[in-house]
Amino acid sequence: MKKYKIAVIPGDGTGPEVIREGLKVLDAVSKKANFKYEKIMYDFGAERYKKTGEVLPDSALEEFRKVDAIYLGAVGHPDVKPGILEKGLLLKLRFSLEQYINLRPVKLYPGVWTPIKDKKPEDIDFVVVRENNEGLYVGEGEFKNKGTKDEIALQVSRNTKKGVERCIRYAFEYTLRRNKQKKLTLSGKTNVLTYAWDLWERTFYEVAKDYPDIKTDYAHVDAACMWMVKNPEWFDVIVTDNMFGDIITDLGAMIQGGMGIAAGGNLNPEGVSMFEPIGGSAPKYTGKNVINPLAAICAGMMMLETLGEEKAANTIEKSVMKVTKKMKSMSAGKMGYSTSEIGDLVVKNL
Ligand code: IPM
Ligand code: MN
Repeated sequence: MKKYKIAVIPGDGTGPEVIREGLKVLDAVSKKANFKYEKIMYDFGAERYKKTGEVLPDSALEEFRKVDAIYLGAVGHPDVKPGILEKGLLLKLRFSLEQYINLRPVKLYPGVWTPIKDKKPEDIDFVVVRENNEGLYVGEGEFKNKGTKDEIALQVSRNTKKGVERCIRYAFEYTLRRNKQKKLTLSGKTNVLTYAWDLWERTFYEVAKDYPDIKTDYAHVDAACMWMVKNPEWFDVIVTDNMFGDIITDLGAMIQGGMGIAAGGNLNPEGVSMFEPIGGSAPKYTGKNVINPLAAICAGMMMLETLGEEKAANTIEKSVMKVTKKMKSMSAGKMGYSTSEIGDLVVKNL
């Protein structure tokens, strides 16, 4: 029997509540699909930081390198200055473990309300491949004349040939494996960001030569936002950089029903990957048993898929699609069920 080692970081706010439901579903599905997993719980996040000043020690990073996957709830707390936990925990994990892909499916499940009139599940089903280790997120930059009227703040977007190429290659491979429209859209800003996007565009068409069965397309990121709303059915897989990927996946999350249902994976295809709901720690809903756990449950499903437990992942998705049909809304407090009841329903429908 296969056995996986999973590091679990419930994190802040509603993170622990949604992770609890995710683990409930993983426990149930592991019994059905005949695999075992060992959970190693970590208390990183705001509480630990406030008590000890520690965000993520290097010793923990070494431990994370030895697990099969990481399952993360949420980071961010109103008492902690923005950036400390986000950079010190989430981004540090993404960068140190070289999780260079952020895979974010945008899929409208049956019965889920979308703000886009007349669009149905068959119209909203695409995946964003967001570069996850470079671009504006590298934190390079400087102030000049800080505090004066002539202040200048520089923020560098670093794009390396290797980094861009591995991301694009992953996106082509993924499009092939997904086997839907077999179409990969590069989304950037070649008309303005003429260094970074020159590299991206050149690399895209170079790599495309190795994938003659994949249709290629390009959309400026502003236009892509427009099409995501007007004609989401045009997209199959979108590949983009870190910053644009961050922005368009919030738009993506909204058209698939909101943060309550949007999941993502930070992937190192050669190493340890980390799975998380896209939404934040939702402080105002913390501890109320009202938050939607489906994003966390779907992150767990993506984790199983990546571990090679496709059948188990499929079982979870089918169950989620039954449960979404019964829910009044995907929004916290309006689901018609509590957080734990949604977890129970997903387990019951497995
Ligand atoms: C995301 C989040 C993070 C990001 C923040 C919390 C650093 O918005 O996962 O999309 O910008 O990547
Ligand atoms: Mn984001």
